[in-house]
Amino acid sequence: MTSSDELEGIAVAETVASADWAAWQTSWDRQQEWYLPDREERFRVMLDMVEALVGPEPRVLDLACGTGSISDRLLRRFPRAVSTGMDLDPALLTIAQGYFAGDDRVQFVTADLHDPQWIDKLPYETYDAVLTATALHWMHTEPLRELYGLLAGVIRDGGVFMNADHMPDPSTPRINAADRAHRHARMDRAKAGGALDWSDWWELAAADPVLAEPTAKRFEIYGEHADGDTPSPDWHAEALRSAGFAEARAVWRSPSDGMVLGLR
Ligand SMILES: C[S@@+](CC[C@H](N)C(=O)[O-])C[C@H]1O[C@@H](n2cnc3c(N)ncnc32)[C@H](O)[C@@H]1O
Repeated sequence: MTSSDELEGIAVAETVASADWAAWQTSWDRQQEWYLPDREERFRVMLDMVEALVGPEPRVLDLACGTGSISDRLLRRFPRAVSTGMDLDPALLTIAQGYFAGDDRVQFVTADLHDPQWIDKLPYETYDAVLTATALHWMHTEPLRELYGLLAGVIRDGGVFMNADHMPDPSTPRINAADRAHRHARMDRAKAGGALDWSDWWELAAADPVLAEPTAKRFEIYGEHADGDTPSPDWHAEALRSAGFAEARAVWRSPSDGMVLGLR
C-alpha cells in the first residue's frame, strides 16, 4: 500500500467513526414508530416474555435485526444478555455495527433468510430466544414455514421464538377498514408535522456520505422492499406447532398487528 493509499484509508476510517450512529438509530426508530405507535409496547411485552420463559441472561438471535432496535432494548434491560443480529440490508447493518461498536455482547451476521445456509453463519449453535419484529411479512408463507422449521432446530429446548408483525384478521373486513382509515389519518397528521416515512428516511440515507454506498446496494437487493404475506396470528401459531414448537399463541395484539410466541 502506498502512503497516499494509507492516508485515504485513515480518512475513510475517520469518516465512518465520526458518523452519528446514535442519531441514525433514533431516526430509524422514529420512522418505524410513525407506522407503529405501539412499537415500544410490543418490545416491552417481548422482553417480559423472554424474562418469564428463559430468564434475564439470555443468548438472543435478533432475526432481521435492521439497525438492532431489539438488541438495544434487550441489552439496556438485561445487561448480561448477548445478541446476534442478522440481516441482509448493508445500510441498516452499517448503522447497527456503528451503533454497537466496541460492545462485545453483540455480533452481526449478513445473510439472506431465503437461503437455508444462513443458519451456518451464526456464531452459536443454539439460542435461548429468537426475536423478530416487522420483518417476516417480507416473506411468503411457504418460505416462512421453512424458516420456522429451521428456527425450531436453533432454539434450545424450553427456549422461545417471538414474531411481532402485521397480522390482520381476514374475517373482519369492516373492522380492518375502519382501523386502517383511523391509522392513516393519524399518520397523515404526523407527516404534516414533519414525521419521516420509509421513502423520506431512505432519501436521507442515500444523501449521507457514509451511507450512500450501502444504501445503493440495499436498493439493488430489495428495491423499495421485498414482497410477502401477512397471515393471521392463528396461522403463525399453527405453522410454529407444525414446525416442532410445543406451544404457540399470540401474546400481544393490536387492531392490525400481533406478536406470536412459540415455545420449544
Ligand atoms: C422494517 S425492518 C425491521 C427491522 C427491525 N426488526 C426493527 O424492528 O427495527 C425489516 C428488516 O427485515 C430485513 N429482512 C427482510 N427480508 C430479509 C431476508 N430475506 N433476509 C434477511 N433480512 C431480511 C430487512 O433487511 C430489514 O432490516
